[in-house]
Amino acid sequence: MSFAEIHPGIRYVGVNDRTTTRFEALWPLPAGVSYNAYLVVGERIALIDTVEERFGGLLLENIRREIGDRKIDYLVINHMEPDHSSSIEALRLRYPDIRLVSNAKALQMVEGFYGSKAATLEIKEGDTLDLGGLTLTFCMAPMVHWPETMVTWCPERRTLFSGDAFGTFGALNGGVTDSQLDPALYWDEMRRYYASIVGKYGSPVQKALEKVRGLDPATICSTHGPVWQAQIPQVLDLYDRMSSYRGEPGVVIAYGSMYGHTEQMAERIARHLAEAGVRRIAMHNLTYADPSYVLRDLFRYDTLVVGSPTYNGALFPPVAQLLEMVAARNIPQRNFAFFGSFCWAGCAVRNMAEFAQRMKWEPAADAVEMKQGFSDDADAACRKLAQQIAARMDKTSEK
Ligand code: FEO
Repeated sequence: MSFAEIHPGIRYVGVNDRTTTRFEALWPLPAGVSYNAYLVVGERIALIDTVEERFGGLLLENIRREIGDRKIDYLVINHMEPDHSSSIEALRLRYPDIRLVSNAKALQMVEGFYGSKAATLEIKEGDTLDLGGLTLTFCMAPMVHWPETMVTWCPERRTLFSGDAFGTFGALNGGVTDSQLDPALYWDEMRRYYASIVGKYGSPVQKALEKVRGLDPATICSTHGPVWQAQIPQVLDLYDRMSSYRGEPGVVIAYGSMYGHTEQMAERIARHLAEAGVRRIAMHNLTYADPSYVLRDLFRYDTLVVGSPTYNGALFPPVAQLLEMVAARNIPQRNFAFFGSFCWAGCAVRNMAEFAQRMKWEPAADAVEMKQGFSDDADAACRKLAQQIAARMDKTSEK
């Protein structure tokens, strides 16, 4: 059986992108990304989503390989972000009679982005499209992670076309389903994808998860990464944890440092945490770490410790950027502690206290503020901070 055939009548026609360096022009793609599209072939044929414009030619080639000269009758649009929609016009030129199937919001976006004149079929929650032998039912999933997002269900194959939900960074290395490749390569990238792209929308994701559980899918076809079959319980659990902002015991230490003094504090806090029994500690020097990796770890762990020197009477810029990204994701609670250094006027620690207030996070330890170089007094304060945090964590559930 060709790996493109996921089930009888359901074919994978997506593409890999191994050359774009930053997804959304923001998030690094060290292992690439896939843009997944699927054919549902009954007496009539539907394509579910398209791919990024640069890969439109490859999409058409993949479609031709699967259905030869048969026509595509419908394009189902689950999501309008251009990584999935920017080949719509190329598709319409190849299949001039194609009908675009989606909800009113998505169809308005087709017009707004592409000025498309393609025929449309507007559907609503629960509507069904009969392809002759296979049917598709539409289920709205607004704000996962755009307002028009929906998912499409094929009951005869118990297959859910889930849009971005359950997607990951990472191109597909040969296989398509999670039993045709090594799923272990994707868990961290799923976390990073979720934290970067979807992280702000925990509550809509929880609602969507409820609907997905009700359907009990045997196959989940997302728009990025592997098709999930064997690993569905793990995928749903991971999404449930992240969208409910439930952190596992562990500490993210994210800091900036101009000349190494704040970094010295970070290193000593990490050591004191380890001595207090904490084993999961993720260190990120923000001059070098991409924020998506820090956000990934922040969605995974329950504790955040941030350090910053004072710079121009404010936070060190990479620290300020990270805290803005954290605030934008509406994370309701983390054990939070902070530390900083200054030369002549301390501002960074005050700014981080203001950040804690804005987030409504009760600090988990006394802040440490150090003037100029490292000292035994600073070390003692770092130890106290680490011990206070360790006391708040449930280390017994660390594995
Ligand atoms: Fe993969 Fe929200 O687009």
